[in-house]
Amino acid sequence: MKEILKKAQQNKYAIGSFNFSTTEILKAIVLAAKELSAPIIVSTSEGEAAFIGIAEAAALVGAWRHGTKLPIILNLDHGKSLESVRKAIGAGYNAVHFDGTNLDYEENIAQTKTVVDYVRDIEEKYDQQIIVEGELGYLRGSSSVHQEALEIKPEDLTSPEQAKDFVERTGVDSLAIVIGNAHGVFSKSEEKLDLERLAQIKDALSDKVFLVLHGGSGIPEEDIKKSIELGIVKINVNTELRMAYQEGLAKELKEKPQETTPYKILQPSFEAVKKVVVEKIKLFGSENKI
Ligand code: G3H
Ligand code: ZN
Repeated sequence: MKEILKKAQQNKYAIGSFNFSTTEILKAIVLAAKELSAPIIVSTSEGEAAFIGIAEAAALVGAWRHGTKLPIILNLDHGKSLESVRKAIGAGYNAVHFDGTNLDYEENIAQTKTVVDYVRDIEEKYDQQIIVEGELGYLRGSSSVHQEALEIKPEDLTSPEQAKDFVERTGVDSLAIVIGNAHGVFSKSEEKLDLERLAQIKDALSDKVFLVLHGGSGIPEEDIKKSIELGIVKINVNTELRMAYQEGLAKELKEKPQETTPYKILQPSFEAVKKVVVEKIKLFGSENKI
């Protein structure tokens, strides 16, 4: 599992991490990856996992792995507690993101370290690999369409010195950073990445850790490409999939109000999500990387 990210780091492309909360979204993500022979990460937040079921999400991903032979990493996204991490690993997740950014710096380190220690224990006990991601900086927004403009303050951004200290003291495999990215799509402003800050963070950490960009929706393509060039190896995308799903569904319900067959009603949403995933995989450069 870690090899997938290592290869991306060495060859300067990024693995897409796509969120799902229904079976047809998962199917759209997996079939897009299959079409392009791309390794992928599929993720559920705590809310998404609660909706689809954590054991059910793991079982579905297992079935897709078996059916497609694709390397698919199943990731807990923005886990807020050790309990949440425990449940995900217990269900069979291969990666966990612990988000301690609502804590102060020292407490974030302490709780992330507890999560890392727990994960390393499990890895040793069961001879399996689990990727642990920590997060540093203040990431604004939520995975939805925001009507207000995005305002990012300099103090929101990840500090290169703290990033180095955080990685050394916690031992995380991956680090989610804030460099002008935010969750969601902002209709009144553009998300602009601070690429200089990214270069400084990369300088401080070299290849010791996998750098992660959350809030992958709504960032200009040029910035995404440059961020990969500068060391980002995992990019999380959710809102653009949600928008595609919602638009596909709204259009279908409007055009065919008499349709009652779920798999027919959901077909346009499935196709719209798949199209977005195909575009993102191509943009991230992870096509034909199996
Ligand atoms: O953790 C999930 C991602 O950061 C999604 O961000 O909704 O802006 O694509 P996004
Ligand atoms: Zn995120």
